[in-house]
Amino acid sequence: MNVTEAIKARRSIRGFKPDPIPDDLLRDILDVARFAPSNCNTQPWHLTVVSGEARQRLRQAILDEINAGKAPSPVFTPGDVNLQGPLKDRQYQCAMDYYGVMGIERHERDKRTALAMKNFEFFDAPHVGFVSMPADLGPTNAVDVGIFLQTLMLALVERGLASVPQGALALYPDPVKAIGGVPEGYGIICGLSFGYEDVGAQINDAIMGRADIDDIVTFIRAC
Ligand SMILES: Cc1cc2nc3c(=O)[nH]c(=O)nc-3n(C[C@H](O)[C@H](O)[C@H](O)COP(=O)(O)O)c2cc1C
Repeated sequence: MNVTEAIKARRSIRGFKPDPIPDDLLRDILDVARFAPSNCNTQPWHLTVVSGEARQRLRQAILDEINAGKAPSPVFTPGDVNLQGPLKDRQYQCAMDYYGVMGIERHERDKRTALAMKNFEFFDAPHVGFVSMPADLGPTNAVDVGIFLQTLMLALVERGLASVPQGALALYPDPVKAIGGVPEGYGIICGLSFGYEDVGAQINDAIMGRADIDDIVTFIRAC
């Protein structure tokens, strides 16, 4: 698999087999991801991987917070707020495509909520990662973290594994902190559930489109 093939093969996968990834394979993948570039080589990312019994307990702790009505307390605001114009349109289309695949109509609020809650169940993936960076850093450093995340996702794809990045997992950081999942002074940017794809799971049928080149690139050849 070359780089182009890996980029095009990667999709957000939300249906997983329960099988854990062997430790040596996971370390092999992380050994690739750490070569991501960053501003002044600061490598501001930190990744916490939660698996096994710890993952079960963490999932329950997050769900308990939500069910108790606790307000979200992200350090970094997830990227789906304050959207306007074509970005708002794409967000809407993304939701419609996702619900469409799951047979959920726009007015079926309870079903939409149940689907959203799957974020906090880590989509039943055997592993969940939390990607964080120092809380006082800003957008330029977040670029570094994003590059790290994509590098990690591509390394997973190359080895036949699947993942879904989740801004939603920045919303309830306290249970993650309580198990030592966020370094002191860091904030969670997003989560990443990952493992082996459950091929054929309905939730994995969502194929998201992309804007055309001319909608996202400006070419200037003379001025
Ligand atoms: C930073 C980031 C945060 C995301 N947060 C969520 C999330 O909370 N829940 C979710 O189901 N998908 C989430 N996604 C997945 C996007 O919906 C997905 O990448 C997008 O629709 C394009 O689809 P694709 O990944 O299949 O190409 C996130 C993606 C990124 C890059």
